[in-house]
Amino acid sequence: MVPLKRRKVAGNNSVAEQGGDKTPPKFPEVFLFLLERKMGASRRAFLSQLGRKKGFQVEELFSTSVTHIISENNSGDEVRAWLDSQDRTRRCPAPLHLLDISWFTESMSAGHPVQILDRHKVQDALSLLAENAELSDQDGRGVAFRRAAAVMKSLPEPVTSMTQLRGLPCLGEHSLRVIRDVLENGASREVESMKQSKQYKALKVLTGVFGVGAKTAARWIREGIHTLHQLRNSGHTLNRAQQAGLEHYDDLNQQVSKAEAEAIQQIVEEVVASVLPGAKVTLTGGFRRGKLMGHDVDFLITHPEEGKEVGLMSKVVSWLESQGFLLYQKTTRNSYLVSDDSPALPPSNMDRFERCLSIFKLAQDQPHRAKQLGALPLDTAEHRRGDSGLQTDQDSCSQRIQTPGGQEDTKPWRAVRVDLVVSPISQFAFAVLGWTGSKLFERELRRWAGQEKAMSLSSHALYDNKKRKYLQASSEEEIFAHLDLEFIPPSERNA
Ligand code: UTP
Ligand code: MN
Repeated sequence: MVPLKRRKVAGNNSVAEQGGDKTPPKFPEVFLFLLERKMGASRRAFLSQLGRKKGFQVEELFSTSVTHIISENNSGDEVRAWLDSQDRTRRCPAPLHLLDISWFTESMSAGHPVQILDRHKVQDALSLLAENAELSDQDGRGVAFRRAAAVMKSLPEPVTSMTQLRGLPCLGEHSLRVIRDVLENGASREVESMKQSKQYKALKVLTGVFGVGAKTAARWIREGIHTLHQLRNSGHTLNRAQQAGLEHYDDLNQQVSKAEAEAIQQIVEEVVASVLPGAKVTLTGGFRRGKLMGHDVDFLITHPEEGKEVGLMSKVVSWLESQGFLLYQKTTRNSYLVSDDSPALPPSNMDRFERCLSIFKLAQDQPHRAKQLGALPLDTAEHRRGDSGLQTDQDSCSQRIQTPGGQEDTKPWRAVRVDLVVSPISQFAFAVLGWTGSKLFERELRRWAGQEKAMSLSSHALYDNKKRKYLQASSEEEIFAHLDLEFIPPSERNA
């Protein structure tokens, strides 16, 4: 058994883990521990590093010193069960907080440990209900819960009683019930039981396969398919996207870091410059909003001379394919036609740009990984991966945790979802605005345009329904001005 040491207030034992940094910790009373379970090794490593950079003490190993356990996508019961399996019980440990990732991210933004509030629990509960609704193909309910979560996030004060919520927008009856439950009982019974339900777990696993939407997942579940293992053995013919999704399941369910996004940006910029000099690549999506992690990487490509962008996508894709950068790709052609009349379609999220949905093969920092593995020859590592790549299901998730730095981290590359979109320069400002997100922000903006201004906003254009004409814009600022709104920078478009 590892000897348990009591936490020392000064000169703590995690100095070595802070990369030899001898400066005293900023928050000597706070010792964070990030639970790898469901978070994944690389995200855990990334977040630990982030924490240390912000002056937090982040423990590599679990011990009695730990004061805050941070987990992601685990229920309270799951964390407690994990905790029970640890030898932490004796020797009067420091009081221990079990916290969700939202506390961690808020503390990182604030630069100090933020007050622990029920608000975090409330936000988590509402976000989970939103997720469940989306997975169940109930987008309307999903939006309602997302809005409620965003409202709770925006509150400046700790919420301790329901009376504080009077008069707030977007809090429906259902959301209020959940909030009351969390405030009164520390957790929402509905959410806790949903998380444990077979249906929810199966939906999460199956819709986690790239190419599988809510409808397909629901159909499979009705047939009794709940795991990837069952899916593989079901005899269903999967389309190309789903096959790729299954093959790269683990990678695609691991978040993409900003550094990885930048590495891909460099590759995309290089190929674009070589096939069409003067063309411009813009990183959009969550990374443009300053997010540190994302589920994919989104790029918008244009050329300052209208028309020059025609034919660009196929050249870019051919080049990437010839260099072995693509594990999967599907390109759809531009189907947007500007009409003199009002737009035929109502403003919608769907856009019609030429778009390439792809899975990139991104080289990883190999020396580091080889070291972790005791320098296995690369082909062995690849081979092992090939064997195990298709075996992932919920069960193998827990195996992965038991063998950190094991099979999952052995191959010298990882799969990353990348979206490439090509826009003519005349639509570029609308495309950037539309592709920067967040989805909730886009929805609110389009609603504002429609209801307050009688205009239709899409990723292609802005149409004034009263004047019966398109309004031109060459920058996001001009679009906000057309909409009579103050400019909102990308970093403030997260909610
Ligand atoms: P994403 O789904 O990539 O979201 O869409 P994100 O904000 O980057 O967050 P991650 O990737 O989960 O970290 C980015 C933006 O692109 C728009 C969405 O509306 C969103 O605002 N989008 C996406 C479209 O306009 N059309 C699409 O087909 C897909
Ligand atoms: Mn994205």
